[in-house]
Amino acid sequence: MKLNIALLAGDGIGPEISVQGRAVLEAVAQKFGHDISFREALVGAAAIDAVGDPFPQETLTICREADAVLFSAVGDPKYDNDPTAKVRPEQGLLAMRKQLGLYANIRPVQTFKSLLHLSPLREELVREADFVCIRELTGGMYFGEKHEGTDEAWDTNKYTRSEVERILRIAYQYARMRRRHLTVVDKANVLASSRLWRNVAQEMMGEYPDVQTDFMYVDNAAMRMIQEPRFFDVMVTENTFGDILTDEGSCISGSMGLLPSASTGSGTPLFEPIHGSWPQAKGKNIANPLAQILSVAMLLEHFALSEEGALVRRAVNESLEANVRTPEIQVPGGAHYGTREVGQWIVEWIRAN
Ligand code: IPM
Ligand code: MG
Repeated sequence: MKLNIALLAGDGIGPEISVQGRAVLEAVAQKFGHDISFREALVGAAAIDAVGDPFPQETLTICREADAVLFSAVGDPKYDNDPTAKVRPEQGLLAMRKQLGLYANIRPVQTFKSLLHLSPLREELVREADFVCIRELTGGMYFGEKHEGTDEAWDTNKYTRSEVERILRIAYQYARMRRRHLTVVDKANVLASSRLWRNVAQEMMGEYPDVQTDFMYVDNAAMRMIQEPRFFDVMVTENTFGDILTDEGSCISGSMGLLPSASTGSGTPLFEPIHGSWPQAKGKNIANPLAQILSVAMLLEHFALSEEGALVRRAVNESLEANVRTPEIQVPGGAHYGTREVGQWIVEWIRAN
């Protein structure tokens, strides 16, 4: 297969993990005879510094012309503590999602057998927890009408029927590929936008009689996720709730550095780790490249290259089993492996297997 990838490394640890993601993709391409090419483009603080825009037109063009975007992270502390900053790195990511029409964010929450003891939750609770959060990504408060005055400010949480319907269809498709259990997460006891979500879901559920649909308020879902994570199979929710719940979900596995995600919709699909740019670790060769590498597995699977995706996943599991791990998940007294060493080990394992 011929694939043209837009490579957006971004900020902080982004460039380091991006290199490892690319190396894994190249190793897979070589092994299976695929023709994969890369075009690098600027995003986030790196793009603001270079051209004054967190998502420049040229980057949009490169993304549009690509078959997929492999994205790493954006964010820089110099903007975090400056509420007056006119332009922020995060706007690059939001602009990219909106302009590429990426309304469906797929965030799997998986655990790894060898890392269960690292979860902040008790091992018996997280063992075999395996669910997917489908987060709506281009609507709600993130993109609704805003006002920012000195004495008053607001964000509007607006959703339309068609926005809700298309994301629910995707969620139902995922449920059908999995354990056929969909949980619609909302705040319908308080929010009008949530009541629209619930009405649309109740109208649609009859079309999917083979899927068990249930409804849960977001506060309750936040609690259930840590009390009984195995309850969930597929959960679907609006943009803001999904942002919050997926950070919570990511720590169930023991490290935020392990979870990949995919964003799909009308334009070029995008694959990215769910962790951020971790500026404190920048350049230190300590960031875990696995979430980026697993994003490569999701990218391959998106193009129906399931054997290739499975090989990447096996390589990741083998690296964990072999204690080839970055410091935050290494066993006490275990050897030191950095971002590069873990990536390299995985590349070599792919070549040899
Ligand atoms: C995420 C991030 C982004 C979001 C930020 C960086 C804008 O937290 O992808 O979850 O809020 O969507
Ligand atoms: Mg987030």
